[in-house]
Amino acid sequence: MKIEFLNKDKKADFELVFVKDKNLKNLKGDFDFGNYDGSGEFLDIKNQKLFIGIESDYNSYANAIYKACKIFKKYNIKSFKCEFESLECEYRSVLFLAYGVLYSEYEFNKYKSKKDEKKPSLKEVYLINKKINENDANEALQNAKIIADGVSFTKDIINEIPSVYVSTSFEEDALKLAKKNKLECKVYSNDYLKQEGMNAFLAVNRASEHPAKLIHLTYKPKKSKKRIVYVGKGLTYDTGGLSLKPADFMRTMKADKSGASSVLGIIKIASELKLPYEIHAIIGATDNAIGPKSYKPDDILISREKVSIEVQNTDAEGRLVLADCLSYAQDLKPDLLFDMATLTGACVVGLGEYTTGLMGNNEELLADFYTKTKNSGDYACVLHFNPHLKELIKSKIADITNTASSRYGGAITAGLFLDNFIRKEYKDKWIHQDIAGPAYVEKEWGIHSFGASGAGIRLNIDYLLKLARSE
Ligand code: BES
Ligand code: ZN
Ligand code: ZN
Repeated sequence: MKIEFLNKDKKADFELVFVKDKNLKNLKGDFDFGNYDGSGEFLDIKNQKLFIGIESDYNSYANAIYKACKIFKKYNIKSFKCEFESLECEYRSVLFLAYGVLYSEYEFNKYKSKKDEKKPSLKEVYLINKKINENDANEALQNAKIIADGVSFTKDIINEIPSVYVSTSFEEDALKLAKKNKLECKVYSNDYLKQEGMNAFLAVNRASEHPAKLIHLTYKPKKSKKRIVYVGKGLTYDTGGLSLKPADFMRTMKADKSGASSVLGIIKIASELKLPYEIHAIIGATDNAIGPKSYKPDDILISREKVSIEVQNTDAEGRLVLADCLSYAQDLKPDLLFDMATLTGACVVGLGEYTTGLMGNNEELLADFYTKTKNSGDYACVLHFNPHLKELIKSKIADITNTASSRYGGAITAGLFLDNFIRKEYKDKWIHQDIAGPAYVEKEWGIHSFGASGAGIRLNIDYLLKLARSE
């Protein structure tokens, strides 16, 4: 799809008209709007215009043009133009319009026997604004393409089925990406994990027919201002293990690899945007299977940080994998340490399906991260730690338990569990991101199609871009 920014008019098959002012009489031209009241969509075939009601925010721009693309595709329209009014930030107005167009192209249909026979008809989109800076607009377009491409790459991994996408698939994809984007890539397996004392990670892998994989990708620009380390939960399937998930809750657990998939997407995008940071992506990949070798509730595991963990529930496996991966990550001496994981159902219950939970010890860093990413397109919310919740993961026979003694505050008690593996010198540098809600949603929402959304990618890329601009 060709998206172009222009500061002059252009001929196209159709025109998309954003309706902000519900008084339709103010619109130039002679239209018969029938019952249309300025909200939702109105397609005027005779005048070749599509009217869509919008609000004054970036997401609304993206959502509106996404909807428009879907409608134009349905009617086999080849090109359209859209003259838009810039919001506060010109760069961001174009960025979000481009997001809407590019996200509308994503489909996961490889298992449909009858694919859309016709190639998508929509080929050209012209974004027109006669007042804004052309360089800003073109930079936004360029960035949107790189980001949307990275998001699609991530979505394809998350959407892939659990019998096909296993730990070694992560290895293959990481190696392929490393070659293409000139990244360093190290891959470790069970022997190394044993040698390193990563017994928490290994326990989760025990019943799997596939090896555990710890994958470490590095992007190093010529001049780097900071070392930023990402850790992603890569559970290619989460059955719950012996603490088996009920059938209804097991479905969609192919998406338990979303954290790792997003971390891969982030390093891909960061290297293509040439961000001025040394970025590491660490993936803990395995599935949580069930079988005679399964680790068991009542087991005690000695983690890489030498913290002993009483297993009370084998379905709280993500935090075990992360505990050892976070330990490995801290050896890299990060300036910032971020983990991304579909960690708790409690986070989904608390925040809803569309929002990422942000946790950590450094309130200032969390506030800064939140403020910088407020307009990233992804929703996030800070969940604050408190000492009372910390009490709930104490164990009588080990240092901590992998599940809390109360079901209240489950997202935060999982975050507090991870905090036990963060060394003193990195406490203030760490943010845990629980993406269990938005990573995979079983309906279309905003500019996201059914299934994987790539949530967390725009959030983190926006943070990195803003950080780079502020330093
Ligand atoms: N992968 C799940 C969390 C999850 C739930 C992700 C729903 C996406 C949607 C995680 O491994 C898990 O099972 N967590 C348990 C923890 C509990 C046993 C303490 C949960 O949230 O129920
Ligand atoms: Zn689980
Ligand atoms: Zn899980």
